[in-house]
Amino acid sequence: QDVLIVGGGQGGAQTAISLRQLGFEGSITIVGDEVELPYERPPLSKEYFASEKTFDRLHLRPAAYWQDKAVTLVSGETVVGLDPLAKTARTASGDSLSYGVLVWAAGGSPRRLTCDGANLAGVHAVRSRADIDAILGELPRVDRVVIVGGGYIGLEAAAVLRKLGKAVTLVEAQTRLLSRVAGPALSAFFEAEHRTHGVDIRLGQGVDRLEGDARISHVVLTGGEKLAADLVIVGVGITPNVAALERAGATATNGVDVDLRCRTSLSDVFAIGDCANQINAYAGGERTRIESVPSVSEQAATVARELTGQGRDHDALPWFWSNQYDLKLQTVGLSGGFDQEIVRGDPASRSFSVTYLRGGRIIAVDAVNAAKAFMRGRALVAGGAGVEALSD
Ligand code: APR
Repeated sequence: QDVLIVGGGQGGAQTAISLRQLGFEGSITIVGDEVELPYERPPLSKEYFASEKTFDRLHLRPAAYWQDKAVTLVSGETVVGLDPLAKTARTASGDSLSYGVLVWAAGGSPRRLTCDGANLAGVHAVRSRADIDAILGELPRVDRVVIVGGGYIGLEAAAVLRKLGKAVTLVEAQTRLLSRVAGPALSAFFEAEHRTHGVDIRLGQGVDRLEGDARISHVVLTGGEKLAADLVIVGVGITPNVAALERAGATATNGVDVDLRCRTSLSDVFAIGDCANQINAYAGGERTRIESVPSVSEQAATVARELTGQGRDHDALPWFWSNQYDLKLQTVGLSGGFDQEIVRGDPASRSFSVTYLRGGRIIAVDAVNAAKAFMRGRALVAGGAGVEALSD
């Protein structure tokens, strides 16, 4: 294959789409471990979980597209090894695939709990269609759900489960929700919203062990409390899938290191998406690993341009979104390391924004039901505006 893409998610699919859009005529194969056509992951914890969208509507392109564009899809197959000198990739079933260029878009795997009982039946991650289908299959016999992790996954799952009338307890190890991605004001707002919707929230506590006779029956918290549970959802982050690249000698710190053209340290091997650690101007010039559909789509375009002689550095503005109940959270920029947060609008009105600053510069904006504030935030973050821009 001229271009072998590892990973059939958003990044892998978008790389092939962008290559064809830019007129690339070489052969392209996507190898992915899931059996589905490439699909959007964000609705898994939202509309697909709530049965508001059928799976067909999550497909990034219909089956005919891949055929028309001569993109070969190899599904249900995992790449486990790489020989960067011979330029071959080895699959779990023993095939050897040769490549001219390899694009590693293998994403991440959900972190699992490591405590006793972590593998009991009824304990689920939220990352793939199979995860959600398994949960939906069990849900009719489930009344009480314990969610571990108060990040996007845990909170989106809580919102859907409350809508479905389940009793939900959410356990977060940190002392506030969304601590990885947002500041205290937004955390407090989402905590209040979820409590209003009937979610029982336990902060500052982890899971000591899961108990049950084959199937989960109780979650025991580090503080000793024992919660009855018919089902557990674990949303405690992801681990980047880069083991094969590391074994092949790629430089990897947190995920695999890539340059601004998404090149790894191995020749003709690119990496994008949740598993790629890239210097980012919006992270103060530090390396960062961004888990976001818009970012990976831009990285895919960066690779496609590079392979069609139109290369330019990746410099996309990071942005994110989350839907919970009737709340639409839109985030632009990276708030990590902020030293000031300014709330604009009244959170009680359920339409407001939070602007994050570092050293007097605007680095990120969270907008809740405030599309205009988000759009304006994009310009302010992109321009590295100072605090005075807020009074304009
Ligand atoms: N017990 C309780 N909470 C924990 C534990 C634990 N043992 N370990 C981690 N946590 C908490 C973290 O403190 C954090 O608040 O789980 C939360 C995980 O949040 P994220 O890292 O944001 O991960 P998650 O919500 O799983 O999302 C994974 O999916 O939707 C995407 O954008 C999302 O890319 C992200 C990915």
